[in-house]
Formats: sequence, structure tokens, C-alpha cells
Amino acid sequence: MSENPNPVFETLIGKAIAARENAYAPYSSFRVGAALMTKDGSIFTGCNIENAAFSPSNCAERTAIFKAVSEGARNFAAIAVAGWKDGAESGPAYPCGVCRQVMMEFCDPKSFLVIAASSDGSYETRPLEAIMPYAFGPSNLV
Ligand code: THU
Repeated sequence: MSENPNPVFETLIGKAIAARENAYAPYSSFRVGAALMTKDGSIFTGCNIENAAFSPSNCAERTAIFKAVSEGARNFAAIAVAGWKDGAESGPAYPCGVCRQVMMEFCDPKSFLVIAASSDGSYETRPLEAIMPYAFGPSNLV
């Protein structure tokens, strides 16, 4: 885990917090924003989008990844995630297991960084491999 101040991480967190404003979370009230950066510095954002039937809901991280992939981007460096209930003081919320699996599809587990923001603006960073050990991924199918 790294907690050294990093202006790029802080820019990504700012964009994740801004994307959180668009979250559609009437069922959980847990609003999440994500900001995904490519290796060439492009940024794609996403928010969680819930559904009355519950299972069609989409997490902020997957919204950002699917937006990026659908626009032709696949080389990702880092993702910032900002998730908490409005008005709550919350520590970092790391991506769910489904989102981690989607990250495994497109991201190098050793170098891709997950930046998990707390509601006070502080953050933790961990490489994908640290939060997805013994993962199944594309290399299993070659
Ligand atoms: N959620 C995300 O968007 N990202 C996460 O990493 C964890 C959970 C969403 C899904 C659902 O809309 C709400 O947060 C509560 O689980």
C-alpha cells in the first residue's frame, strides 16, 4: 500500500468524486464514482447505475472500463474509486469481485493501480494483484 501524495492520483480522485455526482443509486444510496486512466493519460469516468430489478445494476468501475473499451482504449494504468453514502464518513471502498475480474481482463495485475478514496479525500493504492490473488485470467486460456 502506498499513501505518498501523488498529483496524478489526486486528479483521478477528483474526477471520480465528480463522476460520483452522476451515480444512480436510489436503492442502496451508496454512490460511487470511478476514474480510469490509460497509459497515455486519457481518463474515462463512470458511476454506479442501479436498477429496480437489482441484478442489472452496474458498478462505477465497470461503467468506466466498458466506456473506455467501447471507445477503443485498452491499455490501462490506474483507476480511482470514490464510494460512500452521502453525508457518511467512510474509509476506502475497494472494487467488488466482479469488477476485479473485469480488471484482470484488460489490466496488468502487477502494474495496474487501484486507488481507493475515503470520503475525507485521503486514499490508499494497491496493485491489482494484491487485491486479486490467484486470479483466473486471459493467460489461463492460452
Ligand atoms: N458499487 C460500485 O459501484 N463499486 C464498487 O466497487 C462496490 C459497489 C455499487 C454497486 C451498487 O450500486 C452499490 O455500490 C451498493 O453495492
